[in-house]
Amino acid sequence: MLFTGNRYFKAHPRLIVGARGAYYTLADGRRVFDCLSGMWCSPLGHAYPGIVQAVQSQVERLDYSPPFQLGHVSAFELAARIAALAGRPQDRVFFANSGSEAVDTALKVAIAYHRARGEASRTRMIGRERAYHGVGIGGLSVGGIAPVRKMFAPLMVPGVDHLPHTYSREHMSFTRGQPEWGLHLAEYLERLVSLHDASTIAAVIVEPVQGSTGVIVPPRGYLARLREICTAHGILLIFDEVITGFGRLGKPFAADFFGVQPDLITFAKAVTNGVVPMGGVLVRADIYEAFMTGPAHAIEFSHGYTYSAHPLAVAAGHASLDALIGEGMIERGARLAPLFERAVHSLRGEPRVLDIRNIGLCAALDLEPAAGQPGLVGLRVFERALDEGLLVRFSGDTVALAPPFISTEQEIEAMIEGLRRSLRAASGAPP
Ligand SMILES: Cc1ncc(COP(=O)(O)O)c(C=O)c1O
Repeated sequence: MLFTGNRYFKAHPRLIVGARGAYYTLADGRRVFDCLSGMWCSPLGHAYPGIVQAVQSQVERLDYSPPFQLGHVSAFELAARIAALAGRPQDRVFFANSGSEAVDTALKVAIAYHRARGEASRTRMIGRERAYHGVGIGGLSVGGIAPVRKMFAPLMVPGVDHLPHTYSREHMSFTRGQPEWGLHLAEYLERLVSLHDASTIAAVIVEPVQGSTGVIVPPRGYLARLREICTAHGILLIFDEVITGFGRLGKPFAADFFGVQPDLITFAKAVTNGVVPMGGVLVRADIYEAFMTGPAHAIEFSHGYTYSAHPLAVAAGHASLDALIGEGMIERGARLAPLFERAVHSLRGEPRVLDIRNIGLCAALDLEPAAGQPGLVGLRVFERALDEGLLVRFSGDTVALAPPFISTEQEIEAMIEGLRRSLRAASGAPP
């Protein structure tokens, strides 16, 4: 079992048998509202007709295409659509199959780019505390969540440093949207540059909004300041948009939302609405060009996966974009955001609620842990919520919400009222 207490799960199995629209069906017949859009990956809900049809018809026409030395047309078309969606039509896309692979790919691009330009000394990576960049060795190394890293400490890549995270309950609890406090934390990047010297640093990688650690929203001006410092020192800036990409904040990418353009963007999850695994990296055009040297038949970038640009994933990707853009689903999500914000903040004052944060169509609640039993309150709320017909995501004692863009206003309100009852019921429950 993945990131799951195996023994607890075996004793209390929770099995899913079906999904349609914004609801899952559990093995015991309960229908539950999908409060996290799958794992942040299904903003269009489940069994979206256009995607089902596209994948079905693709599997009959071309079920697999080897991605080494060969290509298939719709993969190039999807790459071009993604670059255009990001407002960077000259950019190139490297396809992978997950967020973890996208991150490791982006780190490889960064190192290899500097090397290709004759700056092979730029090898150091800078991540951030509390970051989640997946479970590849590169992503783990730049990630900043101790329980995820500590078991594998000997495998971490050398030469990685971390910025401080930007969360302070003291300064920003119950903030709606971006906190005013915390811009000064970007200056730590200058300190790391002074410490290591810019000539040793390849890239800085951050999630524009830290999702997995509990929706930590960047302080106003913070991302722009990171951009300035990176530009001043020739350091690449990577936004890991595995969660924020494809509309979670109400714009196609967080880069648009915050008005800050990184050099590389990693994406995954919602690119196919979670229907077929896919990830990728959007690469600035001139970074791509820096690789295009040497003999014309030579391999410029020795990297790739058997299932990169898998035809089924590409078909699901096109159909997802048709809906997100063509059918206005990103805008629909954006229209729900103010109501969602009001509703989620109405949980302030409920039992154990220490903080609530939100941006776009995502939010997190920190709950006061039970003495000496971290994670137990989160688990209890999760279980009570299932009884209320809600599938929420909990991580430790933090509950995250990111409902599908297809949700109705009534469903958002019902989700919050169900969560309110769950918080109250869980607070009275025996530990
Ligand atoms: C920001 C970010 N990067 C990378 C990943 C890893 O993605 P995957 O689980 O598809 O490997 C995640 C997963 O949640 C993520 O949130």
